[in-house]
Amino acid sequence: MDNIVSLAKRRGFIYPGSEVYGGLAGTWDYGPLGVALKRNIANLWWKMFVEDRGDMYGIDAAILMNAKVWEASGHVSGFSDPLVECKKCKRRYRADQVEKKCLECDGEFGPVRQFNMMFKSHIGAAEDVSSVVYLRPETAGGIFVNFKNIVDSFHPKLPFGVAQIGKAFRNEIAPRDFLFRTREFEQMEIEYFVRAMEWKENFESWRREANEFIQAVGIEADSVHELEVPDGERAHYSSRTIDFEFDFPFGRKELCGLAYRTDFDLSAHARASGAEFSYLDEATGERFIPHVIEPSFGLDRIVLALLCSVYKEDELAGERRAYLKLNFSIAPIKAAVFPLLRNKPALVEKARQVYETLKKSSLGAIAWDDNGNIGKRYRRQDEIGTPYCVTVDFQTLEDDTVTVRDRDSAKQERIAVGGLSDVLKR
Ligand code: GAP
Repeated sequence: MDNIVSLAKRRGFIYPGSEVYGGLAGTWDYGPLGVALKRNIANLWWKMFVEDRGDMYGIDAAILMNAKVWEASGHVSGFSDPLVECKKCKRRYRADQVEKKCLECDGEFGPVRQFNMMFKSHIGAAEDVSSVVYLRPETAGGIFVNFKNIVDSFHPKLPFGVAQIGKAFRNEIAPRDFLFRTREFEQMEIEYFVRAMEWKENFESWRREANEFIQAVGIEADSVHELEVPDGERAHYSSRTIDFEFDFPFGRKELCGLAYRTDFDLSAHARASGAEFSYLDEATGERFIPHVIEPSFGLDRIVLALLCSVYKEDELAGERRAYLKLNFSIAPIKAAVFPLLRNKPALVEKARQVYETLKKSSLGAIAWDDNGNIGKRYRRQDEIGTPYCVTVDFQTLEDDTVTVRDRDSAKQERIAVGGLSDVLKR
C-alpha cells in the first residue's frame, strides 16, 4: 500500500488534501493523471449504464438540497455511526473499530453515542433551524426527488433507471486507508425503478452488470467477493443488500453495493412532500409506487481497488521496475512519443510531427518526453501505466517507421508511421 500511495503522489495521481497547511483528514486531491484516470472510469460507467442502454436517464442534481429531503429519507434521524470518547484525553473513535481502551492513552471510554454523519451548514445569512442544509450523504437523494420530473418529461416504460455521478459527503469519525474512507468522495449511482413483483430478476441482472463493470475497469476478478449483508446490518432503507468486497492490502472491504430499496424512498417522499410519486401504467390503467434496485459505486474506491490490482513489480534487464497494468481505455496517457536523441533537430522535428498527428487522432491523451535516456523514459511511462511508447530514430528518417514498445512485455515492433494509430488502438 505504501508503494501505491507514494507512486500516486510522486507521479501526480493523488495528493493529500490541503497538504501545505498540514492536511485535512479524510480529503485527497486528484492531480493531472489521477483526474484523467478517474474520468476514464466514470466515462466507462456512463457509457455502459447510460449511453449504451435505452432504459436509462442521466441527471446531475444539486448537492445542496432542501433539508426535508433528508428528513423524509431517514438520514436526519438514522444516518449515524456509534461513537465513543476517551474520558481522559477526549479522543473520539468509532465504537465498532476499537477495543475496550483508548489507543492513545489507555483511558476508559464513556458511553456509546450515535453520531450523525451528515455535514450540516446554513443557507443564507440567518443561522437558525429554518436555514439548515446538509451536504448530500448519497447522490441517490437527488434521483428520488426527480422521479416525477423524469416521468413527466420522458414517459418511460417500467423498468427504467436514473443515473447520476457526483460528490457525496460524510463526516466519518475515522477516515482511513487512503481513498477508502474519506469525508468527501464521488458516487456513481443508479436507481432502477421496477414493478414490485419483478424485483428479484432485476436484482440478479444488476448483480451481473455490476460484476461486468468491475471487470471492464480492469479490477482483478479473483479479488472481488460478494457478501450477502445479513438482517440487522443493512442500511435502514434496504430489504436485501449484496456488498461487492475487494481484497485491499488492509483487508477485505466493501468496494460497492447493490440494494433492494423497495418503495421506501418514493413512498417516504410522497408522504412528506404531498407530491405525486406514483406511476401510471398506461396499458393496465393501474397506478402504483415502483420499487427500486440500487447499484451504488464509490468512484474513489474503484480508483483505489484498480491501483491495487494493476500495480506490478518485475525485473527488466536486471533492474527492478514498477508499472501499472492499466487497460488502454482507462490509462490516463495512451502513448508517449520520444525522439531518440533530443540534440538531433531532424529526429525532434519528425517526432513532433508524429506526436501532433497522434494527438489529433481519437486515441486520447498522448505524452511527449525527450528527457534522459530511452530506458529512463520507458520506466517513467511504465510507472504511470502508459500502454505504448513510440520512438523516432534514425531509421524513421529513412523509411518512415518507428519503434512501438509494449508496456507489459517490453517488446518492440517496427511500425509504419501511417498505420500507427490503428496499431495503438488494437
Ligand atoms: N446510496 C447508497 C449508498 O450510499 P453506501 O454503501 O453507504 O450506499 C455506496 O455507499 C458506496 O459509496 C460504497 O460502496 C463505497 O464505494 C462508497 N462510499 C461510501 N462511503 C464512503 C467513504 N466514506 N469514502 C469513500 N467511499 C465511500
